[in-house]
Amino acid sequence: MKRHTKEKLINETGDLFQERFEIRPEFLSVAPGRVNIIGEHTDYTGGFAMPSAIDRWICTGISKRIDKSIHAVSIDFQAEIKFSLDEEIIFDDLWKKYVYGATKIFTEKFTLKDGLNILIHGNVPIGSGVSSSAALEVSLMNAFRTLTNAEIDDLELIKMCQQIDHRFLNIKIGLLDQFASQFSRENHLLKVDFATNSHSYHLADFSEVEWILIDTGIRHELAVSKYMERVEECARGLEAVKRTNPSVISYRDILMTEIDKIADSHPVEAKRLTHFYNENHRVAETAQAIEHKEWSKIGNLLSESHESLKSLYEVSCPELDFLIDSAQSFSNWLGGRMMGGGFGGCTLNLLKQGYLDEFKELIMRAAVEEKEFEPKFLDFRIVGGAEVLQE
Ligand code: GLA
Repeated sequence: MKRHTKEKLINETGDLFQERFEIRPEFLSVAPGRVNIIGEHTDYTGGFAMPSAIDRWICTGISKRIDKSIHAVSIDFQAEIKFSLDEEIIFDDLWKKYVYGATKIFTEKFTLKDGLNILIHGNVPIGSGVSSSAALEVSLMNAFRTLTNAEIDDLELIKMCQQIDHRFLNIKIGLLDQFASQFSRENHLLKVDFATNSHSYHLADFSEVEWILIDTGIRHELAVSKYMERVEECARGLEAVKRTNPSVISYRDILMTEIDKIADSHPVEAKRLTHFYNENHRVAETAQAIEHKEWSKIGNLLSESHESLKSLYEVSCPELDFLIDSAQSFSNWLGGRMMGGGFGGCTLNLLKQGYLDEFKELIMRAAVEEKEFEPKFLDFRIVGGAEVLQE
């Protein structure tokens, strides 16, 4: 996909909007995709993560209509939909579900007096694990908020975005992706505490290293059902621990000794909780190591995280493991892990400065020779969160 600058994408969206609707949009709402440095599968259980927005965005142009209908155009899917708010519709395509879900959830709390023209254009790769869907949700909700002057704070806004996934896609995701898209700050990583939904910013000077995402281009069918299975296994694990120690209220109260006590009766749940426990510690260690620029240490923490996601949480897949195994033979690779929900998507890799081309060649050769998939490389910059611009 073409690499746009943010300004170019915003200008193009404004012009495409005018071409399609014959007026300028009132607002252009732009929201980024994300990476997650560490803290995977910890959000829906109230743990920690360190994500950030990246320099790929979804931009939504919006204006009011004189009739009551919603017209939405996707430039990237070359498709459009038209519906009225009192219609109950089940759309097949994902982007349509997101647009429909966003308008439904918004209008449960706030009134939309007029219909809407919406045009969506972006450069967040779809299905690569960098949260194009959260970028879409966040860009839509911010557009609705600004257009209607709705009084709603950023946290409530991203929770409404999360509701689209819960209710219109039937997947009970956490808040990681929406958090990163809304709250990120240029040159910083976020550290989010999902027990309180609070966050802090950590300066991220990565000038001595290089990050690269490698997209498997694969999304296994199982991804959604396995995600839901993990949510339930964690919940069962927490219940089992509570039975042995009633003073435990939340996941964060659980100690390793308590997980050990349920290991015989609930072996699967114990594995999931062990991942949660260790991953939270890795987030804390990574935050410190970033502050001190301890790159090898960060690399090791990433690789430990991958091993845990593979063996304890069991959300990796052969293609992701293959990419990590192949990277290990490269001496200037500091570490890496699968990123996002798993069962496809991408790996995140940390390298010493100056070895990126050599590394890409090695991975490409290995993948083409030994596996039947062609990985794609995605470099990224850490950027700030969503914003809305007036035309
Ligand atoms: C997906 C979900 C997030 C989070 C990650 C795993 O990206 O949308 O809420 O659970 O998986 O860390």
